[in-house]
Amino acid sequence: MKVALIGAKGQLGQDIVRTIPDGVELYSFTHQDIEITDKKIVQHVLEVEKKFDVVINTAAFHKTDLCEDEPEKAFAVNVVGVKNLVDVCLKTGAVLVHISTDYVFDGRKIGTREPYTEEDSPNPINVYGISKYAGELMVRNYLEKYYVVRVASLYGRAGASGKGGNFVYTILNKARAGEPLRVVEDIYMSPTYTLDAAREIWRIILEERPYGLYHVVNSGYCSWYEFAVRILEFAGIEARIEPVKHTEFPTRARRPLWSPLASIKGVVLRSWEEALQEFVKGI
Ligand SMILES: NC(=O)c1ccc[n+]([C@@H]2O[C@H](COP(=O)([O-])OP(=O)(O)OC[C@H]3O[C@@H](n4cnc5c(N)ncnc54)[C@H](OP(=O)(O)O)[C@@H]3O)[C@@H](O)[C@H]2O)c1
Repeated sequence: MKVALIGAKGQLGQDIVRTIPDGVELYSFTHQDIEITDKKIVQHVLEVEKKFDVVINTAAFHKTDLCEDEPEKAFAVNVVGVKNLVDVCLKTGAVLVHISTDYVFDGRKIGTREPYTEEDSPNPINVYGISKYAGELMVRNYLEKYYVVRVASLYGRAGASGKGGNFVYTILNKARAGEPLRVVEDIYMSPTYTLDAAREIWRIILEERPYGLYHVVNSGYCSWYEFAVRILEFAGIEARIEPVKHTEFPTRARRPLWSPLASIKGVVLRSWEEALQEFVKGI
């Protein structure tokens, strides 16, 4: 099976590379190799050079606050870029695996304390989420052979290139530097280890699961404050973290206060604590 990976130097991309299963011939494309907003380049790289069975797209413009100021760029990468990939897949018959986000939800489910499943209706509340949802629609309304995989609050060895690291590294670095730690206690999500997400993405592809939408996150959920507390606990660092309300951290983009995900399609990854412990112990 010939697979093209877009965003190969990214946080998730690097773990997709790290977990290539037997029998897969993987062609990795970094941002230097391909610009997904450029239709001609996309066609050249994905249609002319090789015939791929599967195209995995992890590329995105996902600096949530910056997206508010640069909606053109958010839509160029997260929607038009995705449409360029969709067109190639339509033409070549490749399966498109497109990575999306928990930020397609508005967080109003907080009253129920139930995670969002694949059956819940998106209603994004910031430019990033709106553009990612539009990207999902491009995939699902043009293609039959696709997987839209929603992930959330990613951390991995590489750190998100688009965000300059990840939350785990930020907390560890600040704690080690003796800097004060103030973390939001009233926003909840499903922290997800990119290595676990990558392995599940490969399983979805290789097991030829039914096409469609999948939520792929580590099980359970927590607030950013609880997440930070566990990071330090697993790292054996003693430092005080002050829990604060999200209103004390005004940001350009509104964020859903509740975005834990779960799957009703049989995706069950290990708990976020177990995954986090392994990650922290390994760095
Ligand atoms: N990080 C999170 O917490 C999070 C949460 C939910 C969903 N997601 C989704 O998960 C996916 C992967 O996230 P990640 O954390 O792995 O991000 P990442 O580390 O920023 O990786 C994305 C990669 O795509 C490349 N890229 C960006 N724009 C491109 C373009 N126009 N054409 C070609 N390549 C481009 C980037 O290269 P450069 O850095 O060189 O531009 C980068 O290597 C994204 O779809 C994101 O929306 C992420």
